[in-house]
Amino acid sequence: MINTPIVVETHNLTKIYGDGEEVRALDNVDLTIHKGEFIAIVGPSGSGKSTLLHLIGALDRPSSGEVIIDGMPLSQVRDLDHFRSQTVGFVFQTHNLIPTLTAQENVEVPLYETTSQRNDRRDRARELLTLVGLRERMHFLPNQMSGGERQRVAVARALANQPTIILADEPTGNLDSKTTADIMRLLSDLNRSQGTTLIVVTHNHEVASATQRIITLRDGHIQRDVITETSFERELVDFKSSALGQALLRGDELPQEMRDIAPQLRELLEDI
Ligand SMILES: Nc1ncnc2c1ncn2[C@@H]1O[C@H](COP(=O)(O)OP(=O)(O)OP(=O)(O)O)[C@@H](O)[C@H]1O
Ligand SMILES: [Mg+2]
Repeated sequence: MINTPIVVETHNLTKIYGDGEEVRALDNVDLTIHKGEFIAIVGPSGSGKSTLLHLIGALDRPSSGEVIIDGMPLSQVRDLDHFRSQTVGFVFQTHNLIPTLTAQENVEVPLYETTSQRNDRRDRARELLTLVGLRERMHFLPNQMSGGERQRVAVARALANQPTIILADEPTGNLDSKTTADIMRLLSDLNRSQGTTLIVVTHNHEVASATQRIITLRDGHIQRDVITETSFERELVDFKSSALGQALLRGDELPQEMRDIAPQLRELLEDI
């Protein structure tokens, strides 16, 4: 991964909300992300995950510090809307589809910014819906589709302009575990086959363990940043989501042979 170009850099990235009672949502975050990485951002509620995603995606401006996308400092970008439509694709927890438009028309929306020919927009939307397995649902409205199908339309829409990065904020938050696994498989396939850089905010440890790198935020700081491709970290993440790992974290009664190592193991799990 280190051999691929850098696509996202943040330098001393800081975001402070409010004027009276200030909230330091992000505090001097330095981050480097290479092309083709598949990253999970985890951490407690309020730790700054969405804020970080919004700043990387140019949905909001930092209070200080810089975000550099593909070598371009965002502070120097005049037309952020245009830059965003060319560079990043977003997938949110609630899919944000337009209820009165079909799947195909929803995927066409971001293409109005980049593609002037109507036929080209339609062909591209159809190609993307086929890619996410929804060729048969092209003309359905959002309320005629399941949650997982709607989320796949949202992924297709995010891919429309071949963005450098896809940013997803709890993309599986409203889905059951089977559909969650389907969406994660889809994202993982896209990452592998198209080399799309993916950054996924999640509370779900199974989702996090499907990625290659897990960044843990706490109080606006990066607390941990681990490559899960190394087997030990990956096993720990997998163990954390297992029944035994969960029992250990809850402090439940454990099998005899585990009691001696339980305190150290718990510390490792709490940290990941
Ligand atoms: N628009 C805003 N105005 C004021 N404070 C905000 C705003 N957005 C976020 N915050 C505060 O900034 C901090 C970080 O919020 P953020 O939404 O980034 O957290 P998060 O890690 O995404 O949490 P969650 O897991 O609950 O989505 C929180 O303390 C939050 O209350
Ligand atoms: Mg959030």
